Amino acid sequence: MAIKHTMQLLPALVFALALVLRASAAAAAAETIHLKFYMHDIVTGSPATAVQVIKGVVPLANDPTTHFGDMYVMDDLLTEGPDAASPAVGRAQGFFQFASMTEYALLLTANFVFTAGSHNGSSLAVLSRDVIFDTVRELPIVGGTGGLRGVTGYGLLRTHSANTTTRNAVLKIDMYLRM
Ligand SMILES: *[C@@H]1O[C@H](CO)[C@@H](O)[C@H](O)[C@H]1NC(C)=O
Ligand SMILES: *[C@@H]1O[C@H](CO)[C@@H](O)[C@H](O)[C@H]1NC(C)=O
Repeated sequence: MAIKHTMQLLPALVFALALVLRASAAAAAAETIHLKFYMHDIVTGSPATAVQVIKGVVPLANDPTTHFGDMYVMDDLLTEGPDAASPAVGRAQGFFQFASMTEYALLLTANFVFTAGSHNGSSLAVLSRDVIFDTVRELPIVGGTGGLRGVTGYGLLRTHSANTTTRNAVLKIDMYLRM
């Protein structure tokens, strides 16, 4: 009787095992991809790639030249290395706006559009809070297109160099994606 029961259960056990194997294969396939590149934010230059399009009216404390609401549209070059002449990987297209009344905190929202390498033609959408003098800022990735469709993950943004006179900056970005 017991043996007969086991025999009847066997197909179900084999099926359950197949499901477990398939689930672990899927888990292994969910790889993490690390992208690293630099972003060139040119506020002063020709051409400028970050251009002010809204002037706020309320200055930040201790800084009469920066206003709550100041907003810039950008089409910043992305390159492999910190030198702007290093190979291009894409553009960061979007805007940043001084969204805090009291500190240097931006709403930074952009599409990172890749134009070279294995992600050429794909893009990542980012919606983030960028406290510009923090050492590391987190970039939530809200989605992707093309080969990056459906990705989840985050980026880390660091200031590589900045010029307080021109306000130009080179930013280092690491992105960690799960497919
Ligand atoms: C990126 O893709 C476009 C469109 O397919 C192609 O024209 C271009 O040569 C590619 N760029 C690189 C650097 O591979
Ligand atoms: C900042 O830019 C100005 C104007 O181009 C330049 O004279 C100055 O040397 C730069 N400062 C640094 C620290 O690179």
